[in-house]
Amino acid sequence: MDVQKEQWGSRLGLILAMAGNSVGLGNFLRFPVQAVQNGGGTFIIPYLICFVLMGLPLLWIEWSMGRFGGRKGHHSTPFILGSMGKASLWKYLGVFGIFTNLAVAAYYCYIESWTLSYALHSLMGTFQSLSQSEIAQYFNTYVLMGTSFLGIPNEALLFFIICILINTFILSKGLSGIEKVAKIGMPLLILFGIFLAIRGLTLGTSAASAEFPLANAWDGLNYLWTPDYSSLYSPKVWLAAAGQIFFTLSVGMGTIHCYAAYLDSKDDIALNSTSAGFTNEFVEVVLGSLIVIPIAAGYFGLDWIIENMSFGTAFQTMPFLFNQWGTVLAAFAGVFWFGLLFFAGITSSLAMGTPWIGFMRDEFGWSANKGAYSFGFLTFCLGLPCILFYQYGFFDQYDYWAGTVSLVVFALAETILFSWFFGIGPGWKEINLGADMKIPGFFKWVIKYVTPALLVAVFLGALITPEGNLWIEAFSSLLNGGIWPLDNNSLILQISNTKLLEDLAGSTDPGRTDFLEKQIFYTNMARLVLLSLFLFICTLVFIAHKKRKNAN
Ligand code: PHE
Repeated sequence: MDVQKEQWGSRLGLILAMAGNSVGLGNFLRFPVQAVQNGGGTFIIPYLICFVLMGLPLLWIEWSMGRFGGRKGHHSTPFILGSMGKASLWKYLGVFGIFTNLAVAAYYCYIESWTLSYALHSLMGTFQSLSQSEIAQYFNTYVLMGTSFLGIPNEALLFFIICILINTFILSKGLSGIEKVAKIGMPLLILFGIFLAIRGLTLGTSAASAEFPLANAWDGLNYLWTPDYSSLYSPKVWLAAAGQIFFTLSVGMGTIHCYAAYLDSKDDIALNSTSAGFTNEFVEVVLGSLIVIPIAAGYFGLDWIIENMSFGTAFQTMPFLFNQWGTVLAAFAGVFWFGLLFFAGITSSLAMGTPWIGFMRDEFGWSANKGAYSFGFLTFCLGLPCILFYQYGFFDQYDYWAGTVSLVVFALAETILFSWFFGIGPGWKEINLGADMKIPGFFKWVIKYVTPALLVAVFLGALITPEGNLWIEAFSSLLNGGIWPLDNNSLILQISNTKLLEDLAGSTDPGRTDFLEKQIFYTNMARLVLLSLFLFICTLVFIAHKKRKNAN
């Protein structure tokens, strides 16, 4: 088997590419929503603790696993994990590191394509003559593939295809293509972000008027930055914080291993990974919280945010708020905002392509072109039902199983492999090999005990979430001989579609019944697609494993 010689061009390129991998739509679309929905300042403390006790350790683990595997010619998780533990099981757990990326890329590229289309529309001034409700409605029409303002039917599909083609083209250029995009995209993103953040910071109460009587940007910031220690007792907030840390740092996905596999065997990991991780946190905690929240509060007031803030706010509300700044500034702000989202998105979706490409090259000798085009094709095929059956929850199923559950399962598996099977002794050595920074020694114990324990807690918390997230009540019910009341959002009840089936049984309206039946059908279909994808990759790993054995 050929040992790959491809490597990162420079240290700056590597850090920017890794930071680009982590900095993504999650920093701007997911973080503010999670923060608001979990009580603002209540969220921040568990979030920062999870960063230190889970995020950083997982970054170190994944970087060092990647470099270790890369030394042996592996560039994707099945054989990277396989080279660190003896049992075949590890190889198959490594399948998660390809599976998750393909499934997440399918819906991620779809959102990324919205940002591209919205940037273009902002430039064209499409939103400027629209009222607030028209802009909100425009988004609904758009994602359901109505005819857009460009007059193109199915514009969403067109932009999805364009977006995949851009990704595919860059990926076909190999690491240097990714590095180039990161070197241009990351500084621009930060520049655009700073511009919008300054606007958010300086808005204050200046917009208060008859139209916006509640306007107060400061309220939004205070809400986020007034810590509330009572959250330390709320498992719900901890789960949300841990989930956000995973998603935003791209840990538990396999992309970091893959990028790190292209390091030189003695390249520093400690300082590089810590820098990339902190860059992501700066972009998330500083820029991610200084744009949507203060600007929206600066017009609608804090209560509106607490009630309405959602993933759609970025598309449904921001263009309307930009319109308040006059024609020219509105166009700039729109292009900056959606351009920033696009750069954040593309540097992440490129990362999602690399494990598949690396795997097919290592194991089946596929060229960069073939790898990139097959990735584009798979993303398109997996993404198409997300678009067509968006309203029936196809998209949400991908996000739940691939974008949430898989990350935790994989992170737990790799942490156990690293600390307990490969062994924390050699593992710690691996992390510190060639290090330009000394990681405090107590992290050795954190990695061995605390990180896996937290991961188990996160997984169990999601598996058996009690009704209404009322943990204390659930425990007391159990102690008094009662049952453990499961919440509809618990993993167990999600698998069995409990909520949907209950709704269906209670529905008397034929239209609603029909919708619920479709929703159940597409929910199951989405899971079937994901399961098939997982098994397909397992089969590839099996074939590759046989090939390797025969070659020896
Ligand atoms: N971290 C990215 C974000 O915040 C998402 C991502 C997941 C990127 C997996 C790469 C791999 O949006």
